[in-house]
Amino acid sequence: MAKIVVLRGDGIGPEVIEEGLKVLKASARRYGIPLEFQEALLGGVAIDATGDPLPAETLRCCTEADAILLGAVGGTKWDTLPAEIRPERGLLRLRQALQLYANLRPVRLFPSLLEASPLKREVIEGTDLIIFRELIGGLYYGTPRGIEKHGEDERAVDTLSYTTTEIVRIARLAFHAAAGRRKKVTSVDKANVLISSQLWRRTLLQVAEDFPEISLEHMLVDNCAMQLIHNPRQFDVIVTENMFGDILSDEAAVISGSIGLIPSASLGAARGLYEPIHGTAPNIVGTGRANPIGTVLSAALLLRHSLKHEAAAAAIEAAVEGVLAQGYRTPDLKQPGTQVIGTQQMGDRIAHAVETA
Ligand code: IPM
Ligand code: MG
Repeated sequence: MAKIVVLRGDGIGPEVIEEGLKVLKASARRYGIPLEFQEALLGGVAIDATGDPLPAETLRCCTEADAILLGAVGGTKWDTLPAEIRPERGLLRLRQALQLYANLRPVRLFPSLLEASPLKREVIEGTDLIIFRELIGGLYYGTPRGIEKHGEDERAVDTLSYTTTEIVRIARLAFHAAAGRRKKVTSVDKANVLISSQLWRRTLLQVAEDFPEISLEHMLVDNCAMQLIHNPRQFDVIVTENMFGDILSDEAAVISGSIGLIPSASLGAARGLYEPIHGTAPNIVGTGRANPIGTVLSAALLLRHSLKHEAAAAAIEAAVEGVLAQGYRTPDLKQPGTQVIGTQQMGDRIAHAVETA
């Protein structure tokens, strides 16, 4: 029996999780996978209930789980809290506690969504890339960090630090992934300015020696931001530090048509955590407009990476593709000639497609 911890989180998190669970349970029935679910609090809801965005009880459940499915955390209600007790810190502490150093963000195109992207079809057609974002180092975690007062003036500090060990482990995962794909790694840095990027680049070159069949290319992050929308087909595996990966993955999502479509897998020492890359979307909470596909596809990644159930994972991905091909869209993907449906109906249709496949 695999134990899945469910962290619904804030904003549209609970709404998209509901559909992710619906589809996960449908595929578990279809493929006879025994699953057990446990709910826990993370983010703003956890602050409201316990004063802590990552309560000890949540951390305990997560360390005992086989995998974790997460919605999203954060919201304007908690925006004025000090950085250390904001909802987002709960997520960052969880990633660190579970040593989830690699965040995989695949950007693939669904053929029926080629016109849904604001980018031209001829630019995006054929795009199939995956971002390996380093997740527990860099600017998000470096010390010193904080604000000091100097009389009237204040000084704020964040620190961008990386060790060779931290770079090697994410680099090796990226190279292994490339070996099963188009055999190209693009390492993104800012080595013309940042010292940490110089170590990053040098370390990538060393790791590359163990993977002679993979071609390694270095790209500066500003150029990468441009290349992603200028010629996204050139990319296979992108590997980059934490904050560059955060920013570039939102940008890359636009290629697919909507950030609501992109799943992620956070992997490390043991159990994995799976979450859509989008945020809590406070403006559409409770309206039934949220796109659950990012969460549904995150459930597919959970089946693939944590439960090693490739057939069930692929069935979910095929079901999503099938429902989109039938012309059903959530409002973020609306186009002429398509039928707009709500969050729950999208979940129902995908779950039905999984069970009847
Ligand atoms: C993401 C999010 C998070 C991040 C926030 C919510 C802390 O933007 O997963 O991309 O920056 O890592
Ligand atoms: Mg982000």
